[in-house]
Amino acid sequence: MENAPAIEAVGLTKTFGSFTAISDINLTVERGEFMGLLGPNGSGKSTTLKAITGLLIPTSGTVRIAGIDIRDHRKAMEHVGTVIETPEPYPNFTPAEIMDYIGRMYGMDSREIAIRARDALETVKMWEWRNSRIGGFSKGMRQRVILAQALIHNPDTIILDEPTSGLDPRGMIEIRQTLSELKTRDRSLLISTHILKEVSEICGSVTMIRDGRSVASGDVATLVHGTNGDMVSLEVRTLKEIPAQLPVDISGCPGVVNVEVLGPKNLRIGFSGTMEDQSHVTETVFRSGVGVLSMNEKGADLESLYMHLTQGGNNVA
Ligand SMILES: Nc1ncnc2c1ncn2[C@@H]1O[C@H](COP(=O)(O)OP(=O)(O)OP(=O)(O)O)[C@@H](O)[C@H]1O
Ligand SMILES: [Mg+2]
Repeated sequence: MENAPAIEAVGLTKTFGSFTAISDINLTVERGEFMGLLGPNGSGKSTTLKAITGLLIPTSGTVRIAGIDIRDHRKAMEHVGTVIETPEPYPNFTPAEIMDYIGRMYGMDSREIAIRARDALETVKMWEWRNSRIGGFSKGMRQRVILAQALIHNPDTIILDEPTSGLDPRGMIEIRQTLSELKTRDRSLLISTHILKEVSEICGSVTMIRDGRSVASGDVATLVHGTNGDMVSLEVRTLKEIPAQLPVDISGCPGVVNVEVLGPKNLRIGFSGTMEDQSHVTETVFRSGVGVLSMNEKGADLESLYMHLTQGGNNVA
């Protein structure tokens, strides 16, 4: 199965009683690919990752890891390191002790553990802290130890459920840097998040889910510039407060995909249309007499695609 994709999920569906948490999710992560699983709270990200890693059995659908059916759990998971609801490591232990413990569970001998523990702890930049007690670490440092645990058996595929959730900005950046480093080692990654920046910074591809259904999947650049036309986002800052009627008027202009009210004097317009249509939109804003301070055009990006596909935020359109 040398050339099989790192992860292949087909028709994944999971129901809890009469509630359908995920429905017909299909995704493929090729070897060396970094994919983000993006969706609002409750959209089914964790359920999808649990089905993929065999933590829960899907109602229907199949999963293959490096060509191995996930129902052959032990064999398939030799390829995978995961952090999905992994408990906090015991505070009285040191990272070195934790790695030793986990390594033994994998049946490694002391020599192998020593080599793998060093590599994993160096990867997450915790090697110098290997003999300190985890109880004294910051949340970001503990999260890096948890990530090291997932790397001990040298997996070629890594699956993480919101690895930066609850971290401060520095902690988030450090985890992202660690993940970017894994890319240089030819690993494959599937990471769930609701942080768009996380996907645009480290992932080449994305699967977006909404209400348990996949609404887009594939290469980020192709999706952003693809089927939706070249979407631009026009951010408007005004001198006066924006009257409630203005977003409604803008929504009625041809080419306007959505209008978000970001603040009393701040709007963002998702637009995909002709230049004539775009000038009509800007004229509408100027003519309203709100006193335009600035109008900033950003090219098609993941954010506008996400807003378009998930219809989140304060959309008027
Ligand atoms: N064991 C369960 N029993 C019943 N419903 C469940 C169960 N697990 C999840 N759900 C429901 O399935 C839906 C998807 O949940 P899931 O945890 O996969 O979402 P998520 O995208 O990971 O959300 P979040 O961003 O909050 O982590 C939610 O409506 C949730 O309440
Ligand atoms: Mg979740």
